[in-house]
Amino acid sequence: MSDILDRLRRMRAADAPTHGGRVLSYVYDSGLAELDELADAAARLARPLNGLDPTVFPSIAAMERDVIGFSRRMLHGGRSVVGTVTSGGTESCLLAVKTARDLWRRSRAGAPEIARPRLLAPATVHAAFIKAAQLFDLEFDAVPCSPDGVVRASDLVERLDDDVALVVVSAPSYPTGMLDPIAEVAAAASARGIACHVDSCFGGFVLPRWPGLPAWDFRVAGVTSISADLHKFGYAPKGVSVLLQRGRRRHRAQFFATTGWAGYPVVNPTLLGSRSASPLAAAWAITQHLGDDGYRRLTGSIHRVALAVTVAVDGIPGLRVIGDPIGPAIALGADAGVPASERVDPHRLADALVAHGWKIQPQPGLVQKDGVRIAHSAHLTLTPVLEPQVGEFTRALAEAADEVRGRPAANPRMLLAALRLLGYGEGGRVPGPAAAWRLLRLAGAGSVSADQPMAMLMALIERAPRPVAEALLTELLARMSEP
Ligand SMILES: Cc1ncc(COP(=O)(O)O)c(C=O)c1O
Repeated sequence: MSDILDRLRRMRAADAPTHGGRVLSYVYDSGLAELDELADAAARLARPLNGLDPTVFPSIAAMERDVIGFSRRMLHGGRSVVGTVTSGGTESCLLAVKTARDLWRRSRAGAPEIARPRLLAPATVHAAFIKAAQLFDLEFDAVPCSPDGVVRASDLVERLDDDVALVVVSAPSYPTGMLDPIAEVAAAASARGIACHVDSCFGGFVLPRWPGLPAWDFRVAGVTSISADLHKFGYAPKGVSVLLQRGRRRHRAQFFATTGWAGYPVVNPTLLGSRSASPLAAAWAITQHLGDDGYRRLTGSIHRVALAVTVAVDGIPGLRVIGDPIGPAIALGADAGVPASERVDPHRLADALVAHGWKIQPQPGLVQKDGVRIAHSAHLTLTPVLEPQVGEFTRALAEAADEVRGRPAANPRMLLAALRLLGYGEGGRVPGPAAAWRLLRLAGAGSVSADQPMAMLMALIERAPRPVAEALLTELLARMSEP
């Protein structure tokens, strides 16, 4: 048996490091080793359970009660706020949309028919809402933002109408770390009887202790639901988030229950049936251990890291922090205010940083429906474990910036020409699996590894027709795990 685990260890050696703060996305290291041990032990205790039925395994209901209660206090929800533990941010977002759509449909009984409800959100909202709109058949109405990812409240408010089932705002948005104008949007939505979801999957366990913020959570009367991920800044291992709903009626609308089949009665508060209780148990143990004070201390650490990184980037010619982020996400972009020869392209920077032992996350630019482009950037998720090494990190940033300063952004002109020649993108034509794979190999993107340069692939993703880029990415990922 030990050789099996040895093989897994060897496979794991190819992974980017999950601890130590060197990867500034996907992983959320508190820097407290005891949290990992506690989470492992709690997860192991709960491993054999089936979260499908808390009447048989009441420990699951007890843990969920505690986790919902803890999250509700953090987010200033009163007794009318109830909720559910889900498997992650995407599931929380999907459920928020499904619930709002169902309640919207119910509220319109007898009203003039509207074929398809709308999901209204700033263009910077997380992609989980595009997925939700696709799955639950809503029209995704993305409201254009400034190049720095700032949305004007009035632009959202003026698009509120009877066909809007849900408006979503973020606290903060992932791409540039902005706090959306939540109070203004929620008030306008509430006045029209429209539900308003705050997606704080990313910031839900940090922003409550972040200094100087306006009210953005359940203190805002028009906010009807909030998502917050325990497997991000709750510091739990992956597979756990909460969706809080204002009011039992809204919460119950989220459930699926049926007696219409021959087996056991099925009641599911989430999308899954059988589910692991281990992520819940790990999150429960961590929230019990950290308590309010623990989260406050960890947030203080992130706040200091954010300040230090922002000040350091201000001192790096040609590079800038995009916009005015609050919280643990910042995006780095090229400083358009200096000549091209002095600019630092963020994707070249991300590639160069790998050799210095750090990984930041390239984000392609987004051309919105009004033609305004949200700048391409590099995302940094700032975690507490960075605090003792922030000087080392910012020195690496400065050195990597020196290496790439003046180099223009990657330009995939050959591949774009090939796509055009083959007619992809015209009339919705997309490459099938074989053609997509050939194109990817031609572009040198046929194999991906943790250390591979990404600038060219990101440029291609941005500039290829969207359905074509999506087909290429699908192929890339599907091939990785094909036997
Ligand atoms: C704001 C926001 N919403 C939703 C999600 C989706 O969360 P998950 O990846 O856990 O499904 C993320 C993930 O980064 C996020 O940042």
